[in-house]
Amino acid sequence: MALATVRQLLDHAAENGYGIPAFNVNNMEQTQAIMEAAAATDSPVIMQASAGARSYAGEAFLRALMGAATETWPHIPIAVHLDHGSSPTTCQSAVDAGFTSVMMDGSLLEDGKTPSPFEYNIQATRAVVEAAHSVGVSVEGELGVLGSLETGEAGEEDGVGAKGKLTREQMLTDPDQAAGFVAATGVDALAVAIGTSHGAYKFTKRPTGEVLAIDRIKEIHAKLPNTHLVMHGSSSVPQELLAIIREYGGEMKETYGVPVEELQESIRHGVRKINIDTDIRLAMTGAIRRALATDPSQFDPRGYLKEARSAAKELCILRYEQFGAAGHASRIEVIPLEEMADLYAGGRLV
Ligand code: 13P
Repeated sequence: MALATVRQLLDHAAENGYGIPAFNVNNMEQTQAIMEAAAATDSPVIMQASAGARSYAGEAFLRALMGAATETWPHIPIAVHLDHGSSPTTCQSAVDAGFTSVMMDGSLLEDGKTPSPFEYNIQATRAVVEAAHSVGVSVEGELGVLGSLETGEAGEEDGVGAKGKLTREQMLTDPDQAAGFVAATGVDALAVAIGTSHGAYKFTKRPTGEVLAIDRIKEIHAKLPNTHLVMHGSSSVPQELLAIIREYGGEMKETYGVPVEELQESIRHGVRKINIDTDIRLAMTGAIRRALATDPSQFDPRGYLKEARSAAKELCILRYEQFGAAGHASRIEVIPLEEMADLYAGGRLV
C-alpha cells in the first residue's frame, strides 16, 4: 500500500470525530510496537521522526523502517511525518527522503530556540506549503510557543525548544492570529500552544485549567472549525510507568502529564493529531529496567528489547482506543501523493 498523507488521515478523523496519536519513532522496536498496536486495533498510523531521530538512526535506516512497515502491514494506512522541521531546507530534505508530511515549526527561528516574529513564521511556512503541496505532501504549521504555563519554560524535543523565560501571551496561541495564519499559509494542520511542553516534566501537580488551557482550544476551534488542530507535548506521563522505573532503580522526580480525559475533550473540539513521544520512552525504559533487574544474568538484547517493545505496544493500543482511532484503518483507502497534488492544484483541499 502507498503511504498516506497526514492530511488525508486527519480529514478522515475529522469526518468521523476521532483523534490520531502521532508517535515518534527512532528505531525498529518502536516502529514495530506502533504497527503491531495499530494492526491489533485496526487504527490508522502517523509515525513521526524529529531531526534528532534522523541523526540517531540515519536517513537510510528510517527509510528502511518505513518500507518494512508498509510491506509488513499493507492493509494499514501509514503517514510518515517530519516532526519540528526548523527550516524550509530541512522540510525539503524530508520530502526528498520520502516523508509524506512535514512540520514547519516557524514559531521558532532556525536555531530551534528563539521565538520568531509572526511575519517570519508566515513566510517560512508558506514557502514549505508551496513546495510540499506541489508533490502532494501535507504540512503542519505551529503558532504560539510550546512552554509550561507553570514555569514559563519550554521542554525540549530532541534539541528543539525555546530558551529562556516565555510570557503567558507567547505560550497561548491567539485565536484571531491563528485564523490569519491559516489563511496566509494554507497549512493542512495547525499546532497550537496551550501550556503543554515536551518531555516528562510538564506539571508539578495534576493540571488545572490555569496551566493547561483546554478552553483556548475551544476558542481556536470556534474560529477555525475546518482546520485540523495538533497538540504537542501530549504524553500523559502515567504514574504507573514512573513507579516501575523508580521500583527498578530509576530516578524520576514527581511529575504529571496531560490527563487522557483532557486529550479526549480536545478531540471533541477539533484536535485531530496528538503527539506522543515521552510515554513510549517511559514504557520502554521501565520494561528494560525491570527485565534486567529481574534477571541480572540476561545479556541478550533481544530479551529486554522484546519486553520494551511489548510495553510500548500496550501503551499504543490504549491510546488508539482512547482517542477513537481504533476500527478506522480498514475504512480508509489511501490516496496516492500524485492525486493529492492534483487535489491541491485544483483548489479542492483548502
Ligand atoms: P511528549 O514529550 O509529551 O511525548 O510530546 C512529544 C511531542 O510533542 C513531539 O512533537
